[in-house]
Amino acid sequence: MCVATLHPAIDQYKGFGASASRPNRINIDHCGPTSHITRMSPSAGEAERRTGGLEGVEVADTALSHVDGARGRLTVAGHDLEDLAGRVSFEEVCGLLWSGSLPDEAERERLRRAMAEGRESAFADLPRLGDALRAPDAMDALRAAVAHLRPQGHEPFPEVTAAMAVFAAAWARLRTGRPPLPPDPRLGHAADYLRMVNDDAPPAAARALDAYLVTVADHGLNASTFAARVVASTGSDLVSSVVAGLGALKGPLHGGAPGPVLDMIEAIGSAERARSWLEADLAAGRRIMGMGHRVYRVRDPRAAVLEKAVERLEEDGSARGRLALGRAVEGEAERLLAERHPGRALRANVEFYTALLLDAVGLTRELFTATFAVGRTAGWCAHVREQRLTGRLIRPSARYVGPVPPGSRPR
Ligand code: COA
Repeated sequence: MCVATLHPAIDQYKGFGASASRPNRINIDHCGPTSHITRMSPSAGEAERRTGGLEGVEVADTALSHVDGARGRLTVAGHDLEDLAGRVSFEEVCGLLWSGSLPDEAERERLRRAMAEGRESAFADLPRLGDALRAPDAMDALRAAVAHLRPQGHEPFPEVTAAMAVFAAAWARLRTGRPPLPPDPRLGHAADYLRMVNDDAPPAAARALDAYLVTVADHGLNASTFAARVVASTGSDLVSSVVAGLGALKGPLHGGAPGPVLDMIEAIGSAERARSWLEADLAAGRRIMGMGHRVYRVRDPRAAVLEKAVERLEEDGSARGRLALGRAVEGEAERLLAERHPGRALRANVEFYTALLLDAVGLTRELFTATFAVGRTAGWCAHVREQRLTGRLIRPSARYVGPVPPGSRPR
């Protein structure tokens, strides 16, 4: 029996994200007899230097967004997130990411029309998607549906971005036995997405969802963006890059967290139960979803933006009051994590308040990660362009630690 450092799928979240210094270990029974094999193993010094999660490693130059993890600041193409979310539309942020500046009135109208046409064209494509949108999981459905896209041109950004909303909404309707609703080209992207899911889009909810899509449109070299850039670096097409991004986004350590955050808040039920519930969860070896971040050492600034948007919805009576409980759970989680990890700030990340916001606008949890994809596709497209401009294949190395043939010397 040999020991390998692989991900154990023991418990849904247990063991995910082990650090390089304390890797998750599982036993593998099928490695076969190994006594004759010389294995290459890292020296202690080398192991120290390893950053299996590439933390702190800069692998690209980007003009798209900057995550300042120490100060909790997100800059999107020269703008503070707080100056964009709730102030400009998702289409405008698409323009910002795809062209480098916020669109003027004529460009705004051109983008609005391009996205509306993209939604109509994606809706017309639905009959040729086979059973892609019948997959039980929204992200599996999106991945399969997007893979069918054959957009024209080198940079069909509006078409691919618009399609994500149409496919996500169609999936939501099909799973509840309702036929997909055609897009309304007069509406903004966020409002039309909400309407295609729920039949109508109250203005306050549509505004909050628009702020959400803006908030998640781009965020440095997160895992899904990196995946999309790796594919783009091979000279592959945009759709393949976006499909790679979807695969990475689906995981619970990335975009898969907000559904479980809502499950947690509901299971806790009242502020008084928060501490004991969270203690039991941690004692079971699980991570608290929506807490912690690879880069931020302070509270994720996106959490504050989304928290404010939920507060506005609750103040004007557009959403039921889950915010108080959410804040209480966040406070307890923060205190408990600080006790357990005094040297590492583990604060709320974007997913914590994503759960509350998407719930408040009337989307069900099965659609949360797919809705993240509706926004993040804008960033993936922009990164694909940026990566293509470098003309450089991303191809790192791995240190070989496996067996070597008898008689050969490990080097
Ligand atoms: N709950 C409990 N413990 C946590 C935690 C969480 N949410 N996040 C990190 N930790 C712990 C780790 O177990 C680790 O403990 P150890 O040193 O005893 O092994 C320590 O804090 C450092 O964590 P590390 O694994 O190095 O952090 P990371 O940079 O790899 O992880 C995340 C970042 C986001 C993957 C991680 O915080 C996490 O899993 N959060 C929950 C999932 C989530 O909300 N994802 C959405 C991200 S936007």
